[in-house]
Amino acid sequence: MANVTVIGAQWGDEGKGKVVDWLASRADLVVRFQGGHNAGHTLVVGDQTYKLSLLPSGLVRGKMGIIGNGVVIDPEALLSEIDRVIGQGLKVSPETLRIAENAILILPLHGAIDRAREAARGEGKIGTTGRGIGPAYEDKVARRAIRVCDLAEPETLSFKLDELLLHHNTLLRGLGAPTFEKQALLDQLLALAPRILPYVEPVWERLDEARRAGKRILFEGAQAVMLDVDHGTYPFVTSSNTVAATAASGSGIGPSATGFVLGIAKAYCTRVGSGPFPSELFDDVGKLLGERGREFGTVTGRPRRCGWFDAAMVRQAVKVGGIQGIVMTKIDVLDGIPELKVCVGYRINGKKYTYLPAAMRAQAAAEPIYETFAGWSSSTKGARSYAELPAEAVKYIRRVEELIEAPVTLLSTGPERDDTIMMRDPFEG
Ligand code: GDP
Ligand code: IMO
Ligand code: MG
Repeated sequence: MANVTVIGAQWGDEGKGKVVDWLASRADLVVRFQGGHNAGHTLVVGDQTYKLSLLPSGLVRGKMGIIGNGVVIDPEALLSEIDRVIGQGLKVSPETLRIAENAILILPLHGAIDRAREAARGEGKIGTTGRGIGPAYEDKVARRAIRVCDLAEPETLSFKLDELLLHHNTLLRGLGAPTFEKQALLDQLLALAPRILPYVEPVWERLDEARRAGKRILFEGAQAVMLDVDHGTYPFVTSSNTVAATAASGSGIGPSATGFVLGIAKAYCTRVGSGPFPSELFDDVGKLLGERGREFGTVTGRPRRCGWFDAAMVRQAVKVGGIQGIVMTKIDVLDGIPELKVCVGYRINGKKYTYLPAAMRAQAAAEPIYETFAGWSSSTKGARSYAELPAEAVKYIRRVEELIEAPVTLLSTGPERDDTIMMRDPFEG
C-alpha cells in the first residue's frame, strides 16, 4: 500500500493544507518533516477556518499527527496553537499528537537574531517571517541546538544555554540588539517542559510499526521547492530542504517509504518576501489575482506578489523535487480573465533558457517567455468533476501538463474541503 508525500511546487502557499486535509480521510497518520511556524496552512471545513503552522493538517480529521525531527519547534508557539485549535473544537492530546524527541527547539533569541539581521540587511533583506527559523537551523548544523529531549535534562539545558548564549549574545551585541539572560531562558524552558514532554517519543519507532502494519502515512511538506535551501532561488529561500527526499530524513524512515510524491501548484503563481519572480505581474491582472485569490500571508499578513503560472519553474520543481503528480489549485481564480499567459522559459542577457540558472544576477535578470491562452467566461468554482469544466480550462490544464512533464492528478476548484476533482488516487500509486 502506497504512502503519499505532499510538497509545494512553487514558492509556498499553494494550498498544501487544503490538499493534506482532503487526502487525510484516506490516511492513518500525517507527518510534518521540515520547516516550523513559518508555515501557514489554511483549511476551510464548513463554517470553520483552521490556520495551522506546526500541527499536521490531518488533526482536523482526527488522524494521528506526528511532528518529525526535521521540524524546528517553537514550544510557546506550539502550545498556543494547540490551545487555539482546541478552542475551535479539535482534539489534541498525546493520543493524537506525537513529537520527535530529536527535533530542534526555537528559542526567543532565534527570533531576535532573525529580525535584527533582517533589519541590518536593509534593502537586501530576504523578507523572512522573523520567526527564528534560519538561526535555529544554523544552530542545528553547528551542533549547539537545544533539542526537545533536552527538556527532560535540566543539566543538559544549563550547559547548552551557556554555549548558545556565548555565541548569540556576541552576535546580538554586534547588531546593537538586546541580549538574553541565561536564568530567564532556563526558567522558561523548565516551565514549558511538563506541557511538551507528554507528547515526546522516538517517532521513528511508531512510523516503522505503522509501515510494517500496512498503515497509510501522509507526509505534509511546508514551504516549497523554489524555497528549498539547495534548489530554490538562493539566498531568497528558507533554511530547510523542502524536496520530497526530506520526508525520509526529516521523520526517520527510509526513502522507499515516502511513497507517491504529489506537488501542489496554483494555476498562477505567488511569492511572499524578496527574491526573483520572473512572471510577476505589476498590472491590474496581478491585482485581480491577489484580490480574488485572497493572497495575504497566513503568518505575517503581508500581501503576496502575484504573477502568471511559470511552467519552466514548475518543471524544474518536478525534476528536483521528485514530483510524480501535480495538484493544480485555485483554477477558479482565473475565471473570467479573457487572456491567460504561461511562462515557458526565460531570456537572460540575450540568451534563451528552459530553466532558471542558479546564479543570483542571472535569476534577477530573467525575462519571461510566454505562451498565450484564451481564458474562459463560465465558472469553475466548486466544480466537482472534469465534465463541469469549460473546454478552455481543460485545454489550459492539458498544455500545462505537457510543459511541466507531469500529470495533473487532482484539481482544486475552491477553498472548501470538497471543492476537489480527483483524476487518480495518489494512495494507489
Ligand atoms: P499552504 O501554505 O500551501 O497550505 O497554502 P495557504 O493555506 O497558505 O494558502 C492557500 C489559500 O488558498 C488558503 O486560504 C486556502 O483556503 C485557499 N485555497 C486552497 N485551494 C483553493 C482553491 O482551489 N480555490 C480557491 N479560491 N482558494 C483555495
Ligand atoms: P507555507 O508552508 C510562503 C518565505 C518567507 C521568506 C523566506 C524565508 O505556508 O507554504 P523564513 O522565515 O522561512 O526564514 O523566510 O521564505 N516563506 C514562505 N513563503 N509560504 C511559506 O510556508 C513560507 N515559509 C517561509 O516569506 O521569503
Ligand atoms: Mg501558507
